[in-house]
Order: sequence, then C-alpha cells, then structure tokens
Amino acid sequence: MAMIIKGGTVVTAADISVSDIRIQGETITAIGKDLPVRKSDTVVKAAGQYVFPGGVDVHTHFELPFMGTVSRDDFKTGTRAALCGGTTSIIDFIIPAKGKPLAEAVDAWHKKSKKAVADYGFHMALPEFNEAVAKEIPSIIKKGITSFKCFMAYKGALQIDDGQLIGVFNAVGKNGGMVMVHAENGDMIDVLTQEFTAKGKLTPEYHWRAHPALAEEEAVHRIIELSRFVDKPIYIVHLSSADGLEKVKEAVAKGYKVFAETCPQYLMLSSDLYLKPNFQGAKWVMSPPLRPADHLEKMWEGLSRGYIKTVATDHCSFNFKGQKDMGRETFAKIPNGIPSIADRFNLLYTYGVGKGRMSLTRFVDVACTAPAKLFGMYPKKGSIVVGGDADLVLFDPEKKGVISAKTSAHNVDYSAYEGMKLKGMPTAVLLRGKFAVRNGKYVGKQGPGQFIHRGPSGKMV
Ligand code: URP
Ligand code: ZN
Ligand code: ZN
Repeated sequence: MAMIIKGGTVVTAADISVSDIRIQGETITAIGKDLPVRKSDTVVKAAGQYVFPGGVDVHTHFELPFMGTVSRDDFKTGTRAALCGGTTSIIDFIIPAKGKPLAEAVDAWHKKSKKAVADYGFHMALPEFNEAVAKEIPSIIKKGITSFKCFMAYKGALQIDDGQLIGVFNAVGKNGGMVMVHAENGDMIDVLTQEFTAKGKLTPEYHWRAHPALAEEEAVHRIIELSRFVDKPIYIVHLSSADGLEKVKEAVAKGYKVFAETCPQYLMLSSDLYLKPNFQGAKWVMSPPLRPADHLEKMWEGLSRGYIKTVATDHCSFNFKGQKDMGRETFAKIPNGIPSIADRFNLLYTYGVGKGRMSLTRFVDVACTAPAKLFGMYPKKGSIVVGGDADLVLFDPEKKGVISAKTSAHNVDYSAYEGMKLKGMPTAVLLRGKFAVRNGKYVGKQGPGQFIHRGPSGKMV
C-alpha cells in the first residue's frame, strides 16, 4: 500500500512542477505527472497547494540549562511546534560542561531527545578547547555530530580566544567537521555591560545598547580571517546586522568558504521593541539583539542574493513570567532567547515570497535544502527526491492566520510575533510518510522522532 500526493505544485530549490508523489513506507518512490494509482493506494489531493520539502531548522535550544534557568520547550513540545510550523528536522546544540567528557553530554542530549516527535540531530558546542577536547573530536564526528559551535561572546562563561578558535578549526576540519561561530566580540560587550551597570542603566534597552553592531562586525571580520588562516570553512550562526553582513558579502565575493545563517527575528523585528515600557522589552532579549529598522531590508537583500545561505530560528524559549522576570533588577540576568520554531516557515513565506523579496525556489533553498546540504543530511532531508525521506509540507498559499501566544504550539507564555498576519500556511505535514499535521492540526501519531546520524558538514553539495 502506497500513498499518492496528487496534483500539487511541487517546489524544490531547483524547480517547480505540477506532479504526483508516490510514497512507500517512509520513502518517496516516484515523482511525476499522472502517476498510476493502484486500488490499494491512499490518494491525498493536493491540487491548488504547494508541496514543499519538510523544513530543516539547524539552530534550536530545547530544554537548555542557561543563565540560571532551563529553556521552556523541550524535545517534545519543541519538535511538535516545529511540525505544526512545517519543520520536520531540527538540529539542537549540545552544551557540555567544562572539564567533563563531551561524550557525557552527548548521552545527556540523547536521553532528553527520546521524546522528540520530529527528526533531530545535534551540534556540539565547545565552551573550552584543550588537548582532551581535541582528542575527543574524532569520536564525536563518528557519532554523526559533525558541526561544532564556538562562542566569541559570553565572556566568563562560553567565550574562547583566537588561539583556541584556531585549535578548534584544525581539530574539526581534519576530521570532516565544520566550525560554527557565535560572532560577537564578547570583550566589547563585557565593557559596555559593566559601564551601564555602574551607571544604573539596567532596563532591557541596555542589553541592546551593550551589544552594538560593531561587536558583530568585528567578530565576523576576525573569524573570516581566522578561517582563511587555517583554510577551513566557517558557518556564522544568527547573523543579525547589516554591518556583519557587509563583511560576509566581501568574503563571499572573494570566494572564501563562509556560510552565514540568519533568523526570522533579524528580518522581521527591530530594536524599538526594547524601548517598550514595563519590562516588556525583555521578551526580545537575545544575543545578538534586534537591530534598528534600517538593517532589515538589507538582511532580506543579503538573503535573496545568496550571501546568507540559511534561515534557522535559534529557538530558545523562556516564559515572560518567572523566567525573563529574573532580570527585572538588571538586563544582564534576563535569560537570552526567543520562541519562533513554529513561525519560521510561515513568516519566511508571507514576508519573503508573499512580499516579493524572494522566489519560491529560494524560499525552499534557505528553509530546507541549503541547511540539509551544509549539515550532511541531504538528499535524505531537505528536498523532494526519489529515495529521500517522505518529509513533506502541503501548503495552502491562500490560508490566512494571525500569530498569537494563545494559539501557538510553543510551550511559552508570549509570542515574539504577536498579532502578525500570515498569508500562506501548512495544511498538512508528513514526517517519513506519516501525517504529523492534518487540516492544520497536530495529529501526532507518527511515533518518536529519529536521530539523524549526519555525514560530513561544510559542503553545499
Ligand atoms: O539569545 C540567544 N541566542 N540564546 C541562545 C544561545 C545562543 O547564543 O545561541
Ligand atoms: Zn549564539
Ligand atoms: Zn543559539
């Protein structure tokens, strides 16, 4: 018995065609016009709808112990929200404790992720680099964890220096892995944080003021030069500013192996939100912070022109009450992060494709295909191909909605996009051939999500 998705407009990163898709078990077995239908087949009518590959979000933080609390969405609620929003695969960051084996943290993340309902992989964060870490990297890569995040910010906690960054590049690169980086100058941020604190400037606005775009620009420039020095690729996570983007553009134009990711918040939201009264600005406290409105169109342009390769969420959700609240006395204690995994696909479609800022094929590339390629999951994930996993989104371009915490699938008490209108939403989502979302509702019969043992990272093939 097979399933036939009939007559939808099938969109990949390369082309668009009205086609049928045949699914046998978990896998796509045929794509073509008017595929034969057998008696035993289940036919799903998709005429008038787009059929996209399942979304791939390569930047999440589920159940993350961070800044004295734990992020709200765990692997169950987070992956469920992902599915509701058209994302079928995620990659979450393992954050190991300093001085402990990385393998211990891998085990902890495997334990937490048992309740995932979408497919998932892991990146490994490296809050320190030394001989013991270098020794362990090859075995982590053998476990299918082929990307390693370093921090140029979070001084005193996660930040490492240039010498350590070079060490990571060499240890990771020679084993088929890719280095990812949080590119903000942590020392600049630390100085400004201390200055504002000494002056009693403690409201959420000063989180933004303590993270100037210059701190991103400097770190982006430095990491690009370090990656040239060692001749290894670099993936810059959550690029937020036009200033940082300029450095990426220069590097890409020169043919350097620089891949940039941005997030919906850096395309959609601006730093005015930090000025909201009554501590409301804390809802958008994240690192890097939102930027002034004049950055947004430049970020869209960087994305549509191919300088920015991927859009991920950096989903790291904290309740306003009881978690963001921890920073009422000082912005330095507001847990950093926002919820958005259920919103990424829809926002990119409505405000990207719908507003003429990007084509349908480019939308699929940045939301599905390029992340799958860069992180060793393609073509099983991120595309619609014979032999690939039947992860599909049936998407009604006319379906309207409004984002609200009241209706959101996130397990958190506010929405970063409250009241934003959508035109174009998933009606159904399939994960490996089974419905996870039907008629716009989570149906959740698909069994646990599977760990994605990834191949080498760092190539766009
Ligand atoms: O504010 C953020 N981005 N929180 C999550 C941690 C990180 O730096 O990605
Ligand atoms: Zn980061
Ligand atoms: Zn992050």
